[in-house]
Amino acid sequence: MTDISSIVILTGAGISAESGIDTFRSAGGLWEQHKVEDVATPEGFARDPDLVLGFYDMRREALAKVRPNAAHTALARLEREFAGELLLVTQNVDDLHERGGSDQVLHMHGELKSALCLSCEVRSRWDAPMACRPPCPVCQASSLRPDVVWFGEMPYQMERIYAALQRADLFVSIGTSGAVYPAAGFVQEARTAGAQTLELNLEPSEGTAHFHEARHGPAGALVPQWVEEVLSA
Ligand code: OAD
Repeated sequence: MTDISSIVILTGAGISAESGIDTFRSAGGLWEQHKVEDVATPEGFARDPDLVLGFYDMRREALAKVRPNAAHTALARLEREFAGELLLVTQNVDDLHERGGSDQVLHMHGELKSALCLSCEVRSRWDAPMACRPPCPVCQASSLRPDVVWFGEMPYQMERIYAALQRADLFVSIGTSGAVYPAAGFVQEARTAGAQTLELNLEPSEGTAHFHEARHGPAGALVPQWVEEVLSA
């Protein structure tokens, strides 16, 4: 593990599972409870905004009941103590990385605690329900939507992510099924550019064959152990 000066980490729902947040594709997961096309597409929002706003209100409220776990705090430790370049990219819309102590988190699928105004296009920090159509704090229009990326929309900050993947010596994927692009393609992008690649996941992901190394088990155990290895190398 010597000679590592640039790391890109991608996290998914599995890193927050031990905190009590449902993943998407497990048995009983969010996409078994709700139809993707109803609650996670622009068309679904246009058809039934109350349903969509209520879905994200419920998920935002659930954040108050959960806490970061050992995997989140280990990545915050890595941010503080790793001397090289580190980019933490998450597909998660929860705030558990931040509450675990990470200051620099790139939320490529947006955030539950952010509102996007469809009138003035300004983003505001947001902690309250939206289904009651509150006014935008900037322009006062009742046109807020959750600042999350829906299917058919472009994930955030892709140029920055791809630039970091080109520079990376190590790409680590944590707690993601590898079912959703473009994130599922990051491993091949990094590997082609010369990075070592490591999967830390409860079970082999859909893309597991693309990684140089895969370790399987709960993130709360695997991630602190891996962080310790990096920092003591
Ligand atoms: P998924 O639900 O697809 O996958 C979660 C992964 O985490 C699975 O491979 C599980 O095996 C693994 N897992 C579960 N518990 C774990 C644990 N304790 N430790 C480690 N791994 C664990 O969630 P994502 O891959 O994050 O997008 O889903 C990607 C995107 O699909 C989401 O961001 C969301 C969803 O549709 C949008 O909504 C745009």
